[in-house]
Amino acid sequence: TDKTRKGVGMIRFDFSGVTDKLLGGRGIAVSDIEAIVPALACAHETIMAARAKREILFYDLPNDNTMIEGVITLAEQLKGRFKNIVHLGIGGSSLGPKAIFQALKDPLHNISAEPRLFFMDNVDPELMGSILENIDPRETLFTVVSKSGGTAETAAQFMVVYDLLQRTLGKRCHDHLVLITDPEKGILRKLAVADGIASLSIPPEVGGRFSVLTPVGLFPACLLGIDIQAMMAGAGKMAACVLQGDVFKNPAYLYAAVHFLALARGVNISVLMPYSNALYDLADWYRQIWAESIGKRHSLKGKDVYAGQTPVKALGATDQHSQVQLYVEGPFDKIVNIIDVATFRKDVPIPHVFGDTDEMGYLAGKSIAGLIRAEALGTKGALIESGRMTSHISLETIDAGTLGGLFMFFEAATACMGYLLDVNPFDQPGVELGKQITFDLMGRRGYEGKFRSSSPVERMVIEL
Ligand code: PA5
Repeated sequence: TDKTRKGVGMIRFDFSGVTDKLLGGRGIAVSDIEAIVPALACAHETIMAARAKREILFYDLPNDNTMIEGVITLAEQLKGRFKNIVHLGIGGSSLGPKAIFQALKDPLHNISAEPRLFFMDNVDPELMGSILENIDPRETLFTVVSKSGGTAETAAQFMVVYDLLQRTLGKRCHDHLVLITDPEKGILRKLAVADGIASLSIPPEVGGRFSVLTPVGLFPACLLGIDIQAMMAGAGKMAACVLQGDVFKNPAYLYAAVHFLALARGVNISVLMPYSNALYDLADWYRQIWAESIGKRHSLKGKDVYAGQTPVKALGATDQHSQVQLYVEGPFDKIVNIIDVATFRKDVPIPHVFGDTDEMGYLAGKSIAGLIRAEALGTKGALIESGRMTSHISLETIDAGTLGGLFMFFEAATACMGYLLDVNPFDQPGVELGKQITFDLMGRRGYEGKFRSSSPVERMVIEL
């Protein structure tokens, strides 16, 4: 109702903690937001035009019933056949499914239920070695996710896994693989077609870090019995809200606007701090989308701008005993975005033991959920008292619909922030450069010597 609170159903975004009303001179006035309405309108137009040409597709994924049904059909065929799922992929190909798994399954799922889900999201030999030692390939499905198919980390893991499957299962090895990749391009698609390996497609218009609501995130979720239709319904409801042009009706544009105005005041760090362990990997997913989408050297017209705002993840209440001292008293360079949950799926009452002591008595008869919520408000209060910017995303509870809504909210906010900063939020030339130098260092045909002779990394390695 007032101009600092907006949201969809179970998700509410409150940015009063960045305003001049609460922070005084360091705060953002509603008139500051009004002053950038033309820039926001421009960003909105760019988004709508690209959406109309299907160059930006993430808003429309919740309506893609063919994609959703394809995921459900394949998952139904495979359900009950495997004790383990091992997910191969990195960056946008793993952060989304990881965030879903952590948010919607029990924290001890892999100990107490099946199928267990493991993420090989790094080429750390100890992580890989340990996962492979602890699963029986005959009881395991490997989901191999790479939009391009050419990412060295995922390619190497796939080679290891494929060899293991072939040695263990011979010709039946293909029954233990699902490849999730571009519908036409890349080596994974070639293999899927040539060898008849089960596969799902990532729409070409959806980049890695925006792909959580494609088979990348939906398929592993569906295998674990998560209601992906509810997730997409939540995302769809949010999409309708974050496609509105009026910034004061659109929470994602508001999120982008306050971050943009904060950045102009030197606030170059955006902290996402859920007060919920289940949402910590969502903060990791946010770290990628915010960093990779807006951290850009070039403006849309090719000028050097070196744009970006460093995303940081923090966990409440744990990081109150690690980071919050810095947030409250350190440099005025952060906006701390707190997520709190009104109703947890489980609660633990605090019993009346030691009830007559000053030190513990005040906790007796309360609950663990009550304590963590009070801590969220405590941190918010301390930040505001100290003149530090903070926003507050409140969730009624954590469920599939809410999570879908959150993904859509942050994706839309990222798109808007990119265009406000006049950069392309959908490319990643810096990542591609690193990939190509790796190809050169590992001797990939066509890349040899392309970077090595001039690479400072190579020189440094030789000197060391
Ligand atoms: O968002 C991105 O584009 C990247 O983080 C990619 O997801 C990541 O590099 C993995 O790429 P791919 O899915 O092609 O293996």
